Amino acid sequence: MTIQTIKTTPYADQKPGTSGLRKRVTVYQQPNYVENYIQAIFDSLEGFAGQTLVIGGDGRFYNDVAIQKAIRIAAANGFGKVLVGQGGLLSTPAASNVIRHYKAFGGLVLSASHNPGGPEGDFGIKYNIGNGGPAPEKITDAVFARTKVIDTYKTLDTPDIDLGSIGTQEIGDMVVEVIDPVKDYATLMEQLFDFGAIRELFASGFRMTFDAMHAVTGPYAHAILEGMLGAPKGTVINGTPSPSFNDGHPDPNLVYCKEMYDLLMTPTGPNFGAASDGDGDRNLIIGKNRFVTPSDSLALLAANAHLAPGYKGGIAGIARSMPTSAAADRVAEKLGIEMHETPTGWKFFGNLLDAGRVTICGEESAGTGSNHVREKDGLWAVLLWLNILAVRKQSVDEIVREHWATYGRNYYTRHDYEEVDSAIANALVDDLRGRLAGLPGQVLQGLEVAYADDFTYHDPVDGSTSAKQGVRVGFKDGSRIVVRLSGTGTVGATLRVYLERYEPADGQHDLETQAALEPLIKLTESLAGIKARTGRSEPSVIT
Ligand code: G1P
Ligand code: ZN
Repeated sequence: MTIQTIKTTPYADQKPGTSGLRKRVTVYQQPNYVENYIQAIFDSLEGFAGQTLVIGGDGRFYNDVAIQKAIRIAAANGFGKVLVGQGGLLSTPAASNVIRHYKAFGGLVLSASHNPGGPEGDFGIKYNIGNGGPAPEKITDAVFARTKVIDTYKTLDTPDIDLGSIGTQEIGDMVVEVIDPVKDYATLMEQLFDFGAIRELFASGFRMTFDAMHAVTGPYAHAILEGMLGAPKGTVINGTPSPSFNDGHPDPNLVYCKEMYDLLMTPTGPNFGAASDGDGDRNLIIGKNRFVTPSDSLALLAANAHLAPGYKGGIAGIARSMPTSAAADRVAEKLGIEMHETPTGWKFFGNLLDAGRVTICGEESAGTGSNHVREKDGLWAVLLWLNILAVRKQSVDEIVREHWATYGRNYYTRHDYEEVDSAIANALVDDLRGRLAGLPGQVLQGLEVAYADDFTYHDPVDGSTSAKQGVRVGFKDGSRIVVRLSGTGTVGATLRVYLERYEPADGQHDLETQAALEPLIKLTESLAGIKARTGRSEPSVIT
């Protein structure tokens, strides 16, 4: 077994996005594509000799190939140990936990999250740092710079490592330990939540459906919900991970979980429905006759977190990504705790969590999490909901309505225009930016503009600045329009429009969402001219 230094040539497209490097599998299959990127990551890090690296993925097509390459490159670069989930599996939050729990130097998370898998689908590699969270921009910028000039990578000429059985092996000077992907994560969940109360809830006849979408949360949900919490067998559906997600789209939204939604809207259906995405960091929450928007879920979880043992002392603060609705802000205000608005992407929560300034974080894109790891965590959100339901002994619908009656309701929707020509999308956002300065004070469709800017974030912990994070136009009544380009798309540009309108506590809480937001939808069109410029008559996806 010898270390080999292999000559390579750079690829121009290895710029990490919102969540690592996400590309079509066919792009990843190009010669040395994986090798270049992983070597560029290691070249951008210092002080890992002899240290531990965690590697795991969501099991999608190409996971098995990339993971073997990653282990060899880690060994050749001088890592002392690799911790890898059995079968190459680790959900993203579980990987974050393993990094933290075993005090690893960092980790490689192999996933394209909720994007489809299979040979025609997507793949991704993300580097997480020692706190368990996605690498900050300082590192991802360095990695990108390195990918542009990389000319060699190091690897080991060794046969594939057996990842099928738990235990320890050696390759070269490095130890590879294959671990149970579920165990440490399940232990952490048991510490945070009142498993006794949730067990009683299930024993009392409460029924739920959890859709693992043929993705990584299957084994976790089977073990925790049906095993430790005694939910009846069959509670978890689509619970066996498949490399192509059974040719499905592992995105837990109302489009891909329509069947579950319909089931929850029928009188004979279960009390509670939930789902998670490809890599287990997103969540969908539906109660009987009540879909909970992710923005509302964040606010509700923050307001009720003290009912779970892990948060019984209260929460230090809340952070949300800028496009997420302001529902959580009202909770923070009432609790008298810090509230932070950050750019899109979980990496921006890391510093706030590390500094103990916030406990709960969330994004409108179905991500919620806390300081227990440094990633969003789908099953965590489901378990916190179950804990709250077990303690409050009310339905999801009752809890949501009481929340609105206390804090008011933030009607909220996101309109996505996918696979738009990049030049058109960029010009659209640029032109919009150019018009912002003239907007404050104007009255548009009866709404007075309070502010209009391109969001710049000043990290209060490390002082760094992130500019151009999305155009926002805020109105005096609490309504808001946000327009930004996605950083995770793999083809063309995805234009995201986020709309929100606030109804006070004693206002109307039963309007249909799109109807409630119609004036803002019209206003966005007149400001940005999306239809005219893109030729699209309607969004590709409405959530
Ligand atoms: C999307 C979501 C964002 C999330 C990210 C990774 O990024 O909008 O909230 O953090 O996926 O899951 P975007 O495509 O908008 O850049
Ligand atoms: Zn995900």
